[in-house]
Amino acid sequence: MNRIVIGADHGGFEYKKAIIEHLEKKDYEVIDVGTFSSESVDYPDIAQELAKIVINDNIPGILICGTGIGISIAANKCKGIRAALCHDEFSARMTKKHNDSNVLAMGQRVIGIGLALSIVDTWLDSEFEGGRHGKRIEKMMNLEEL
Ligand code: RB5
Repeated sequence: MNRIVIGADHGGFEYKKAIIEHLEKKDYEVIDVGTFSSESVDYPDIAQELAKIVINDNIPGILICGTGIGISIAANKCKGIRAALCHDEFSARMTKKHNDSNVLAMGQRVIGIGLALSIVDTWLDSEFEGGRHGKRIEKMMNLEEL
């Protein structure tokens, strides 16, 4: 069974529920790192919880907040994470093919749920192309802190 981890702050709580339902129908085992209500939480906490599982279990992750921006920035601060904020299918496909993104981020306040589910499917169905992109990813992951 394919495994995936998902997390959201209060701004993405409703879409997290819908995405879990969608993925379970497709036979994914979904690990839910919260949040579990619409009460206000801090998205860096959720991003970090999810990042640990993505890295340790080597599985893809999905993050949702209001815009998708804060939670993707936070995730990208975690070592080994390549989080891509996507609000269209083309970007979702290309970020898997070229950036080998291991986290997909979206904003619940930005796009409708139909498009969000389609972006999830596109991202999960796309594959890393390797080749010249491998070298760039290696460079990106080894950038030194300034
Ligand atoms: C929470 O109100 C909101 O700031 C958060 O979900 C997200 O949009 C931040 O980038």
